[in-house]
Amino acid sequence: MTEQTSADQQPQPARTGAAPTSSSAAAKVPDALRRRIPKAADLAPLMQFKAPKLPTARNRVAKANTIADLRAIAKRRTPKAAFDYTDGAAEEEITLTRARDSFKDLEFRPGVLRDVSTVNLGTDVLGASSALPFGIAPTGFTRMMQSEGEYAGSQAAQEAGIPYTLSTMGTASIEDVAAAAPNGRNWFQLYLWTDRDKSIELINRAAVAGYDTLMVTVDTSVAGARLRDVRNGMTIPPALTAKTVLDASYRPAWWFNFLTHEPLAFASLSRYSGTVADLINSMFDPTLTYQDLDWLREVWKGKLVVKGIQTVDDARKAVEHGADGIVLSNHGGRQLDRAPIPLHLLPEVAAELKGKTDIILDTGIMSGGDVVAALALGADFTLVGRAYLYGLMAGGRTGVDRTIELLATQAARTMQLLGVKNVAELNPEHVRLLG
Ligand SMILES: Cc1cc2nc3c(=O)[nH]c(=O)nc-3n(C[C@H](O)[C@H](O)[C@H](O)COP(=O)(O)O)c2cc1C
Repeated sequence: MTEQTSADQQPQPARTGAAPTSSSAAAKVPDALRRRIPKAADLAPLMQFKAPKLPTARNRVAKANTIADLRAIAKRRTPKAAFDYTDGAAEEEITLTRARDSFKDLEFRPGVLRDVSTVNLGTDVLGASSALPFGIAPTGFTRMMQSEGEYAGSQAAQEAGIPYTLSTMGTASIEDVAAAAPNGRNWFQLYLWTDRDKSIELINRAAVAGYDTLMVTVDTSVAGARLRDVRNGMTIPPALTAKTVLDASYRPAWWFNFLTHEPLAFASLSRYSGTVADLINSMFDPTLTYQDLDWLREVWKGKLVVKGIQTVDDARKAVEHGADGIVLSNHGGRQLDRAPIPLHLLPEVAAELKGKTDIILDTGIMSGGDVVAALALGADFTLVGRAYLYGLMAGGRTGVDRTIELLATQAARTMQLLGVKNVAELNPEHVRLLG
């Protein structure tokens, strides 16, 4: 066969993205890409103008999609000294920053193809149930942040079916909180101070009022250096100075509430006037030892929890001295700066004590995902401090409801995306700590 050399067998030029050939120029432009004059019938469904909403607390907090959003609202509405007292931590605030970062520096490890159509957030803690795997941590002077204070916290907790902890430094009394939330699970946080008779009096009042758990805080041998308070000249009760009066001019709702409700006072302590640091340093007892825990174990018949555990050794000792539960906590970074981070301490403590005591964790929790991470790494339960206070400052009781709702929704969604239906299914396989 001879080789063919006709023109139609000449090699064709390679196709490039260069100049279109005459046939592609003729391609039809799709109708969807041709401009046209808008028709009224097409516009009608797009018109969704709504009447403006009233600026109620409910509408305000409904717009918050995260705890950080609630914090932003809280900051706008609360005088600087009160907001900073809540938001701030000790010295350079390294502990608090690291604690929050610890929840970011992890990776979830999801399981797929599990039926997660329903998810149950309920769990047991200290011998009774909680509808959600978190409760409200004790916070002092809560009516200063917003005048509904402890009442908002305890009633929101009662409605959600979770524990509420009243602080020794609370601004509502043991009996008033019990009366406000009679069906709630109320816990009492104790600062043991030098005068043991005063401590016993409080413990007995808590027992009579039906509090089922005593939480003794042991990380306040002296006050942490909360420098924002020092810089703001924060006193208790807040003083009216030229600065605070100016502040009042653009936070009128807070001041109106403050001035038209019962004056702020520590409900469990005698009337006090001065800085928080002076108060802690004058009232609390730096001589406390494990023998005092033994004494407390004898006098308190309900569940006893030790809050402020920061090493495995102390976790073990607290249990040996009769604690039913421990709270791995550095007081929200408000005491020792550069303190151990509870989430980092947790795996080691869980390896030794899981099943022998209830392991509770706080500090740095800002989302439901954080709660799930702590449970997966071995916590039986968690507590939230600031997350609840941001809600309170943003909208009183409705703000606290919103905090609980956000944390619960986020926790449920995280569990579903992890392929987990119950709190008990969470385990260390679900989390990898980075770095
Ligand atoms: C404003 C404020 C007041 C607090 N008061 C107390 C208190 O009276 N007793 C106590 O044991 N812990 C107190 N804490 C610490 C909390 O119980 C909890 O350990 C801490 O807030 C957890 O960290 P978080 O705020 O990041 O959730 C307080 C915390 C804050 C923010």
